Amino acid sequence: MSVSFEMYGHIAVLTIDNPPVNALSHHVRQGLVKAIERVNKDAAIKGAVIIGAGRIFIGGADIKEFGKPPLAPHLPDVINTIEACRVPILAAINGAALGGGLEVALGCRYRVGAKTAKTGLPEVNLGLIPGAGGTQRLPRLIGALKAAAMITTGKPLDAEKALSAGILDAVFEQDLLEESITFFNVKLKSGEIRPALSTITTLPFADPKGFEALTKKTKARARGQLSPIKALEAVEAAHLPFAQGLKRERKIFMDCMASDQRSGLIHSFFAQRQVGKIPGLKTSKIREIKTVTILGAGTMGVGIAMAFLDGGYAVQLFDINRDAQDKALARIYNTYKGSVTKGRITAPQMRKRLDNLSAIFDMQAASNSELIIEAATENMEIKKSIFRELDALAKPSCILASNTSYLDINILAKVTKRPSDVIGMHFFSPANIMKLLEVVRTDSVSDEVLGTVMQVGKSIGKVCVVAGVCDGFIGNRVLKSYRKQADFMIEDGAMPQDVDRAMRDFGLAMGPFQVSDLAGIDIGWHTRRREDATRPKNERYVDIADKLYDLGRLGQKTGAGYYSYKDGNRTPVDDPIVEKLILDASKRKQITRRTFTDTEIQNRILFAMINEGAKILEEGIALRALDIDMVFIHGYGFPAYRGGPMFYGDQIGVKTVYDGILEFAKTDPKSWKPAKLLRTLAKTNGRFSDP
Ligand code: 3HC
Repeated sequence: MSVSFEMYGHIAVLTIDNPPVNALSHHVRQGLVKAIERVNKDAAIKGAVIIGAGRIFIGGADIKEFGKPPLAPHLPDVINTIEACRVPILAAINGAALGGGLEVALGCRYRVGAKTAKTGLPEVNLGLIPGAGGTQRLPRLIGALKAAAMITTGKPLDAEKALSAGILDAVFEQDLLEESITFFNVKLKSGEIRPALSTITTLPFADPKGFEALTKKTKARARGQLSPIKALEAVEAAHLPFAQGLKRERKIFMDCMASDQRSGLIHSFFAQRQVGKIPGLKTSKIREIKTVTILGAGTMGVGIAMAFLDGGYAVQLFDINRDAQDKALARIYNTYKGSVTKGRITAPQMRKRLDNLSAIFDMQAASNSELIIEAATENMEIKKSIFRELDALAKPSCILASNTSYLDINILAKVTKRPSDVIGMHFFSPANIMKLLEVVRTDSVSDEVLGTVMQVGKSIGKVCVVAGVCDGFIGNRVLKSYRKQADFMIEDGAMPQDVDRAMRDFGLAMGPFQVSDLAGIDIGWHTRRREDATRPKNERYVDIADKLYDLGRLGQKTGAGYYSYKDGNRTPVDDPIVEKLILDASKRKQITRRTFTDTEIQNRILFAMINEGAKILEEGIALRALDIDMVFIHGYGFPAYRGGPMFYGDQIGVKTVYDGILEFAKTDPKSWKPAKLLRTLAKTNGRFSDP
């Protein structure tokens, strides 16, 4: 039964039990309406409590029902029924009350919570707005400004914050149900029952200036995402009579529900949960990891060390260079100190993290670790010798991981006597912030080691994506393919700012040339020098980045790259020197420059991404299209509301992508070769996401 009914004296307790998250599925909505009918019919009942079974109150509407024909009773009607019940109802919030879950609680006269309670309206993260009265009742409870801040960011409040915001009336620490009933009985006996939120006609705490500022901030933050702006519109409607406001909310909610952004964000939501599940894994056994040693105290090593410290692990940091080691420790200390100042962590949390960190000066000291991550220079010979040494010193069950971003980890596995314990853990910089972790599956790695690394990655808050071994794995390999197109376009007629603007307008956090300036022009230069020996002689090569390198324009760190940066400011400024350099490059190759529309720029970049993604799928480097989507959303600033490049391909139609590539190939057949999978799907009207 999804909603159970029990009597505690004169109080009916309705328990929602719909694992895993007590979502408000059709049968739960039906169960709630039936339970309220029963309460209404029984004159002996003086009040009712709604509580969730397990660790969650209600995780919201059932997302799996979205996109299907809605079935009555609809959630807004269920909540109106709760609010109109003959007796008052109290929500006893035992865990997360999210979206429709909080909306159910807002339909109740009282809301109390356990210490584990969490209240939020995260619908904007799914491309929606609250659609069951949340935008109308919450402003009536805590004021339009606070409500709008919660709804536009989607960020939930913990129990203490919800109490001080006025969402919760009390927080209980012992037995939530028992204490809630005691609290409720006092209210019932007082005879002064609080009115329903829908009956409030004037919103508390008006702050029009604050609302204006929030609107500005929301628009700036949205980066093409519509739902946060739509949510503001709905909250503004809370100034109308309740029924009118509710109608307005419903209309906006249904519009959002029909949008591509909603499909993209729901795809991202489920993909993020799916990506950690590896089909065909033969064991669920995992190894216990307590101490992690990081080899290499450069930028990457420091970030990885902090990611593990943040996750509560004991971390040892090793570097052969004492000076680098000292600098790394100072950097970690200063970063944590900054986090304390900004209120992101507490001073005791900082202390704990620093206590868990030790610098080691002898690699032998890594022998106590269950996981060793090598983050040394990208040089195969150096890495091989490190892996030989690690093989000799590490304890038998220790996992040996490399953070290489392109080298063949199969070769590293082979230099050890434990190839089944060798794996890739490709972090993205800054590794303590970026959510993506590519887990590189070597030919020899055991399922137990793969499962362990996926679990460890999740425990430090990473979205772990399995990738096969190839140059660049998933992310950097696809990046290389579209980066090439960006270079061709600037040589053929566009300017870096044109390409970057078009891609930002599509929703990318940054355009490809801004990314180069951020990463450092020298990084690409070293990669290209590594590739010089194997690059086909007849391949088109754009040397604009090499010229920038020769001028010492290495990007943001030198104050100049594709753009110039004034006085340490990170805002890119178009630079006539670069424009001249690009015009000269076109002239040298006798290219007649032409204009590119934003749509053509976007198509060239996105189709290159999708085509390379299709090749990666064909080769089995990525397990599923959704894995590629997760790499780009969590590692490369691809907008989640587009669902990732492969989902975007499905949305616009694989045939559209295929035909577009054939068109581009007419003038450049060498770099536009459609993947076989792309051709097959285009011909069969298939989708990358087809099982
Ligand atoms: N509907 C259907 N399934 C859901 C769901 C939901 N609202 N929320 C989570 N699930 C599923 C997940 O897909 C996952 O399924 P799987 O095991 O098959 O992969 C399973 O429940 C467990 O989810 P998590 O792994 O995320 O579990 P956690 O314990 O880590 O987190 C949670 C629980 C905090 C509830 C988290 O799942 C969450 O944030 N869920 C979404 C909450 C949300 O956005 N609610 C708003 C929905 S829209 C709405 O309510 C509209 C309304 O205004 C009309």
